[in-house]
Amino acid sequence: MLIDGHNRVVDYLRISVTERCNFRCQYCMPEKPFSWVPHENLLSFEDMFEFVKVAIDEGIKKIRLTGGEPLLRHGLVQFVKLIHDYAPNIDLAITTNAFLLEETAQSLKDAGLKRLNISLDSLKPEVAKQIAQKDVLDKVLKGIHKANSIGLGIKINCVPLKGINDSEIIDLLEYCKKNNWEIRFIEFMENSHASVKQGLSSDEMQEIISKKYKFTKGKRVGSSPSQTYILEDGYKFGIIEPHKDDFCSDCNRIRITAEGYLIPCLYFEDALSIADAIKQKDIKEASNILKKVLKNKPEKNKWGSENQSNRAFYETGG
Ligand code: 5AD
Ligand code: SF4
Repeated sequence: MLIDGHNRVVDYLRISVTERCNFRCQYCMPEKPFSWVPHENLLSFEDMFEFVKVAIDEGIKKIRLTGGEPLLRHGLVQFVKLIHDYAPNIDLAITTNAFLLEETAQSLKDAGLKRLNISLDSLKPEVAKQIAQKDVLDKVLKGIHKANSIGLGIKINCVPLKGINDSEIIDLLEYCKKNNWEIRFIEFMENSHASVKQGLSSDEMQEIISKKYKFTKGKRVGSSPSQTYILEDGYKFGIIEPHKDDFCSDCNRIRITAEGYLIPCLYFEDALSIADAIKQKDIKEASNILKKVLKNKPEKNKWGSENQSNRAFYETGG
């Protein structure tokens, strides 16, 4: 079992397989173009899998593949299959923008994938275009519906932004309800890479929803960062409230970047690389580094403090 320096069990690994993305969401990426980490610096999927085996053997029970946009990385389907074949019971999921999903959903399912979290910030083509800086909505919706039709589990993520998509909260909620998908509204997390500056607070989102629907607060399930709310007809939606004081108290996660840096917390600068250890097939050293990073996992995120990280969410998978 993996335990961090604050006695929390860590059983959830998020793997960012690429920082590259085919979108430029305003809450995530800068407007100006920038250069990506060269491909040769990335850990190969073979090497990443060596680390995944260490992590699973040490107690990781849930793995999420993120990016950037994970479907951009060649070999992703085979990577999913490697993980699934090694540990069929692992809770394996992908976070994607769904742009490339229509053509990849079936092979991902065949490889053993069960669930997807998909970003959907608007149902209006123009607004979706404004947020992603590209005309994406048609392909995104086709991707989501394809994945749904072949039985992949779907959760929708939406980041409400002031004056951009905040008038669509009810429409998005109703669209997901109709399709029987849980939607999770996420409070915008301030970061130096985003070109928008203002999201809605959980209270503001609840106020908008309460104008049309009555709902009650559910229990927070396990270490999920999402607070569940339940409409009168039983439909559940979530709000991810990272600005709440106790948000970090039962954090169970650790992240690894595509280059092999182990990140104990999104908003914490310190990270250690397992790349050399893995390339030298030194599994024991990789396991030691994992434990060292966990020991150093901060109790709370470091927003606004000196040690706040400038690392972008597209490097760490949010
Ligand atoms: N604030 C909140 N959520 C974010 N995401 C990315 N950047 C931010 C941010 N600044 C989330 C989005 C997206 C997922 C990949 O990461 O919900 O769906
Ligand atoms: Fe790409 Fe996701 Fe960032 Fe949007 S939020 S730019 S889809 S990595």
